[in-house]
Amino acid sequence: MKKTLVNMIQSMEDKAIDCNRNPKVQFASAKNILILLGRVTLLFTFLYLSFLMLAITFQYIPFDLQVAFLATKQHIIQFQYYQIAFFSHVFSSIFILLLGSTQFIESIRRKTPLIHRYFGLTYVVGVVCISAPAGFVMGLHGNGGIIAQTSFCILSSLWFYYTLRSFLAIKKRNILKHKNYMILSYALTLSALTLRLHKYILANTTDMHRIDIYRIVSWSGWVINLVIAYIIINHNTSTKAITQKAH
Ligand code: HEM
Repeated sequence: MKKTLVNMIQSMEDKAIDCNRNPKVQFASAKNILILLGRVTLLFTFLYLSFLMLAITFQYIPFDLQVAFLATKQHIIQFQYYQIAFFSHVFSSIFILLLGSTQFIESIRRKTPLIHRYFGLTYVVGVVCISAPAGFVMGLHGNGGIIAQTSFCILSSLWFYYTLRSFLAIKKRNILKHKNYMILSYALTLSALTLRLHKYILANTTDMHRIDIYRIVSWSGWVINLVIAYIIINHNTSTKAITQKAH
């Protein structure tokens, strides 16, 4: 008995050594390490940019109509409807960004489905009833003229649409549609981070005028995210089809 056990362990060790010498296995583990590194980098970038977004949001407390970005909106901030749109957008969006990020963590969905449901409902109400309509109103007066204004208005309309479709899908118990629309919705939520990231990169690597940079990032900030979201959805669909065929 003892001898058989020793033999088994020996054979397992031999196999492990063989695997380590196998170039295919080596390539697979290098790929896994790269994927892990990529994920960790994305996570830290997200945390860092969300922290910056939180700091930007705190600038508007206590209520002040001259502070930060509002200095560029003095011609419009005197109007009450703009004030309502601005402050409701800024203070709801930060919760939307943070709550939304937890919805893609599988362990939360599995272990605490109630949290997933309440956070999800808050996200949907926040986007559909507050932040997207407010973003649209602000978009009509966005800096950067008609180019940026068109972009902000399309962005807020799509944000509203995808989020609502995701909610309606789960009401009908269509989990796949719910998930795909939520991926699209959250990709647009993340545009708050990517827009500011693109702006920072362009401002520090080119000689372009500030307003031209703003026009470019008002589009690149969400269009690139949307393309990535569609690639992820396609990839998920084809992986699922392959797994189903294999079974
Ligand atoms: C994805 C949909 C969104 C749309 C359509 C949108 C739209 C807008 C618009 C039009 C402005 C004013 C820009 C201008 O006048 O030039 C603005 C400003 C702002 N938005 Fe959004 N936004 C969105 C998402 C978010 C999110 C997720 C956050 C927070 C995490 C956020 C936080 C802010 C803040 C803090 C400002 C004030 C500007 C500043 O201080 O940097 N937005 N948004």
